[in-house]
Amino acid sequence: MADPDLPQPTAVEERPGPIFRKLLRFDAVDSTNEVAKLLLGQGAEEGTIIVAKRQAMGKGRHGRAWASPPGGLYVTLVLEPDPQYVQTLGLLAGIPVVKALRHYGVFANLKWPNDVVFLEKKIGGILSEGVYRGDRFYAVIGIGVNTGIDLDRLPEDVRARATSVKREVAEYVDNDDFLDYMMKHFEDIVSRYRTGTRDRLVKDYRGLCTTIGKEIIVTTPRGQIRGRGYDVTPLGALVVADPEGRRTEVVDGTVEHVK
Ligand code: BTN
Repeated sequence: MADPDLPQPTAVEERPGPIFRKLLRFDAVDSTNEVAKLLLGQGAEEGTIIVAKRQAMGKGRHGRAWASPPGGLYVTLVLEPDPQYVQTLGLLAGIPVVKALRHYGVFANLKWPNDVVFLEKKIGGILSEGVYRGDRFYAVIGIGVNTGIDLDRLPEDVRARATSVKREVAEYVDNDDFLDYMMKHFEDIVSRYRTGTRDRLVKDYRGLCTTIGKEIIVTTPRGQIRGRGYDVTPLGALVVADPEGRRTEVVDGTVEHVK
């Protein structure tokens, strides 16, 4: 029976793969991550892409909202990864976003774990969630990019710390072209990740992550740590060095770049 909670796609498209072979397009949804979870409950498989023109209840990390006006890119990718490395995968998902932004003229970077920033202003973010279907583990990797967004469409408190491709680049960028470019890099990352060159990928990540070397404040569920971003481990944890040189590994937290 059709699920009344599940919105109907406006189009279903085949893609070249090798991993992502099906794209479902939606006009408006609450959250593409939630649609992915509902679809997983109905038998969706790895390699499904969900894309929406806008979200009414876009979700960010740590229970925050993700403002999702029309013009932005809102996409969720369904994968069946090794649960042991799902944290690393969520981290690596930032690489294709940065590559696509740079390709379209915005020299973005990553703030650990995967805030996509341009000159310290947020331009994209990733929310990676794990879902079990029976004993099979899936990751729904939600990616939001402020592509064609007018900043005045964002809530006031977000606006001051955010930017968009539209704001930074004079030329119009088509979301489908942006997604195609990003997906080519995403496919590449997933296949390299599966063929065991994860350490090399984490090195690529480090090269794009400006948290390393910066003075930072990290807010974790167990309190705040102040120090310098020192490294990212192969499993994706941030290593923070305090002024005495003591190192702490952080697996979950929000980073503020101080200088
Ligand atoms: C963050 O930086 O806090 C993560 C933001 C992730 C937003 C994307 S938009 C597509 C997908 N659907 C959601 O509800 N959230 C993610």
